[in-house]
Amino acid sequence: MARILITSGPTRQYLDPVRYLTNASSGRMGQTLADAMLRLGHEVVIVSGPVDVKYPAAAQVLPVTSTEEMLEACQQIFPACQGLIGVAAPCDYRPVRVATGKIQKTGQPLELHLIETPDVVATLGASKQGQWLVGFALETDDQRLRALAKLEKKHCDLMVLNGPEAMHAVETSVEIIDRQGAVIETLSGTKQAVADAIARVIQARLVEQPRR
Ligand code: C5P
Repeated sequence: MARILITSGPTRQYLDPVRYLTNASSGRMGQTLADAMLRLGHEVVIVSGPVDVKYPAAAQVLPVTSTEEMLEACQQIFPACQGLIGVAAPCDYRPVRVATGKIQKTGQPLELHLIETPDVVATLGASKQGQWLVGFALETDDQRLRALAKLEKKHCDLMVLNGPEAMHAVETSVEIIDRQGAVIETLSGTKQAVADAIARVIQARLVEQPRR
């Protein structure tokens, strides 16, 4: 049995007390992957941004709001885990300054200055001590090339590539890419069926096999 960390859902970066930037993510893929890994007999810890989905009762869930909070929670948990499935869609930008009061409308364009948030998977990947990592990439153009570049940059063992039609959908189709850039699986169907198949690949290639 392995202890597996799953990041799931979107994160929020507040501009003021009521407005925020976020990514489109329902948390459904994280929910279905958690369910699949639990059914394979593993222990699952989910660090999740704000979502409406209900995670499996057998999983430990740590709710977070921002990308920084997601990273901090993961850094606490990851050292005691054997692997990470990074299926969250953390918000990549945050405002340089967060207004303490609600920003008032002036009739003029509002300029926002944004900076990048930390990359959760890349940061954990850079600090890994023998753990395996699986990342997810949602790409609109040059999909395989960009997914492979992310796999390398984020120190992942596998990258699951999907298109934007997966967002908030019940069904999805994905390709799983390995470190050599080979497409090792092409899967489509309900997110639960795809999650089950991804879980089988993780089980066979990463949980049961010595790492290459
Ligand atoms: O956003 P991007 O396409 O780079 O996401 C690829 C992978 O990196 C996903 O697994 C996602 O969860 C992760 N990621 C992250 N922290 C970010 C952005 C992305 O962990 N700030």
